[in-house]
Amino acid sequence: MKIGILTGGGDCPGLNPVIRAVVRKSINNGYEVIGIKNGWKGIIEIDTMPLDVNAITGILQKGGTILGTSRTNPYKTEGDVNKVKENFKKLKLDALIAVGGEDTLGSANKLIKDGLTNIVGVPKTIDNDLSATDYTFGFDSAINIVMECIDRLHTTAESHHRIIVVEVMGRHAGWIATEGGLASGADFILIPEKPIDIKEVCDSIKKRHARGRIYSIVVVAEGAKLKGEELLQEKKLDEFGHVRLGGIGETISKLIEKETGYETRVTVLGHIQRGGSPTAFDRILGTRFGVKAVELIEQKKFGRMVSLSGNKIIDVPLDKAVAQLKTVDLELYDIAKEFFG
Ligand code: F6P
Repeated sequence: MKIGILTGGGDCPGLNPVIRAVVRKSINNGYEVIGIKNGWKGIIEIDTMPLDVNAITGILQKGGTILGTSRTNPYKTEGDVNKVKENFKKLKLDALIAVGGEDTLGSANKLIKDGLTNIVGVPKTIDNDLSATDYTFGFDSAINIVMECIDRLHTTAESHHRIIVVEVMGRHAGWIATEGGLASGADFILIPEKPIDIKEVCDSIKKRHARGRIYSIVVVAEGAKLKGEELLQEKKLDEFGHVRLGGIGETISKLIEKETGYETRVTVLGHIQRGGSPTAFDRILGTRFGVKAVELIEQKKFGRMVSLSGNKIIDVPLDKAVAQLKTVDLELYDIAKEFFG
């Protein structure tokens, strides 16, 4: 049995634990594994690397992905889907493990429907917005980074009696803002799922300051919408049709300063949220997902995605995972709201 593995989309902590687990479990089963470099690009261009025990030694604690990644969409350029299919044969693969988020797994699902059936998916994204799994790895590491950064921002905001607006990632779903904000005691959290009401934010801050607090922390997801619109860094679309978001923190910080009269600063956490070592939770989740992915191949359960349900690792149809994005559980947001102001 020969298995290929690729990692696509934005990198995140936990990818290397998955690769390590896939290789270790495969070797234990007597299978061969090759790494396909830079997501779908690597299979289109036949850019691969052997994955033996030496290749995966010491990578459990390493962030990013030793395979590299890209946002290459095999459905973007004519002929690429055929190249993927032909090269799968040329590489003599029996199965492919695609590790990614909505875009990478969406492509995997389309390829399965187009006849490249022997694929299993592993869910990854710091955004935690994939359906059919309770959590994706990368998310826990990201919210721990957000928490640490906001803990630091609390002390400087307090010393200067300022409001600090913290912009975090989260394109279409505000999981990082909600859970990162909950963990760090944010005084207001703004997410894409709820249109921003700047008056509500400012009234809440004024109330807080009226009862003697001298600073506030406002967390905003990059995809939060003011008057129904997303703010963009640039209009150019990537291969999956996504724009680069950014700027909402700056915009609302100006509005808050104008409306409340309190000095306001903005901090954009950006790619800091995706860098560095995975947390223990993400190392373990990635490891469990990797082992389960090889088990699915062993059982010829293709077209499935490994998933976390409660504390169990199960498998679900890939179709179900990519059908729609998982937005923030509004019951959780309501808990966070109890601490606003
Ligand atoms: O991978 C998800 C994500 O981190 C989003 O939260 C963010 O909008 C986007 O990727 C940033 O992408 P890039 O690394 O291509 O700038």
